[in-house]
Amino acid sequence: MPAVLSVMPTIDANSPIGVFDSGLGGLTVVKQIIQFLPNEQIVYFGDTARVPYGAKSAETIIRYSRQIVGILRKHRVKMIVVACNTASALALEVLCKESRLPIIGVIGPGATKAARSTKRRKVGIIATSSTVRSGAYAARIRRLDKTIQVFSQPCPLFVPLVEEGWLDHEVTHTVAREYLKALKKSGVDTLILGCTHYPLLKNVLHSVMGPKVMLIDSAEEVAAQVRRILIENQMLRTRLSPLSHKFLVSDEPQNFKRLAQRFLGGGVKEVHLCHV
Ligand code: DGL
Repeated sequence: MPAVLSVMPTIDANSPIGVFDSGLGGLTVVKQIIQFLPNEQIVYFGDTARVPYGAKSAETIIRYSRQIVGILRKHRVKMIVVACNTASALALEVLCKESRLPIIGVIGPGATKAARSTKRRKVGIIATSSTVRSGAYAARIRRLDKTIQVFSQPCPLFVPLVEEGWLDHEVTHTVAREYLKALKKSGVDTLILGCTHYPLLKNVLHSVMGPKVMLIDSAEEVAAQVRRILIENQMLRTRLSPLSHKFLVSDEPQNFKRLAQRFLGGGVKEVHLCHV
C-alpha cells in the first residue's frame, strides 16, 4: 500500500513524479502519464549505460533499481513509477519494502486489465526472458482469477528490432510469426505486451495474432493508477506554471534526446548525463 506522503517534509504536491526504465522504452509510460495528467512534472531516468535488463539476474536488477530510486529521490519525487517490466517483475517488491514513497510497477495494472478483458479465460504474455522466468505476470493473474489459463512466451529479439526502428519490417513480422506460433495455437483472446518496447510493435502483433485478440498495453492503466494514488494522497500538482520535464540518462544523452523527441513528439528540451 502507498505510504502517507505528507510526513515527508521536502516533498509536496508540486514535486515531480519519478519514472524509470532500463532505457528509452519507458517513454511509452511517460507519454500516457503526460496525456492523463498534463499538469504533472516528470523526472525520467533511462539507464542507457546498462540496457538491456531483459536477460539479467534478479540480484543485478535489484541493485540497479535501488541506485536509480536513490537518484530520483534526490529530485524530491513524490512517487515513483517503475516503467520497466523486467525491473517491475524482479525488483518492485524489494523497492516497496525499503521505501516510504509510493512506488508502482507495470505488472499489476497490466495483469488486472488482462484479467478483466479475457472472455475465453486464456491470457498470453510476451515479455523479456527475465520477466517470463520470474513468473510475475502469471502469478498476479492467478491471484486475480484462478480459472484463467496463462501462456507465456519470451521474445528477446523484439527489443533490438524496436531499437533498430524496424517497427513494421518484414524481418520483424517473420520473428513475430515464429515467436507467437504457440500462443496462437493456445487460443488466447488477450495478449499482454509485457515489455516497454512492445507497444511499438502493435501493428505487427495485431497482424500476426489477428483482430480478435486484444492487446494489453499496461501504460494506460499505469497512468490511471498514478492519478488514483495522487488523489488519495491529495498530491495532485496545484501549481499552474509551465512544465518542463527532466530527462536523465546514464549514457549517450544526445542519442536519447533525438529518439525521445521522435517518440514523445517534442517537449524533450534537455537530457542530462547522470553516472551510475
Ligand atoms: N525495459 C525492458 C522491459 O520492459 C525492456 C528492455 C530491456 O531489456 O532492458 O522489460
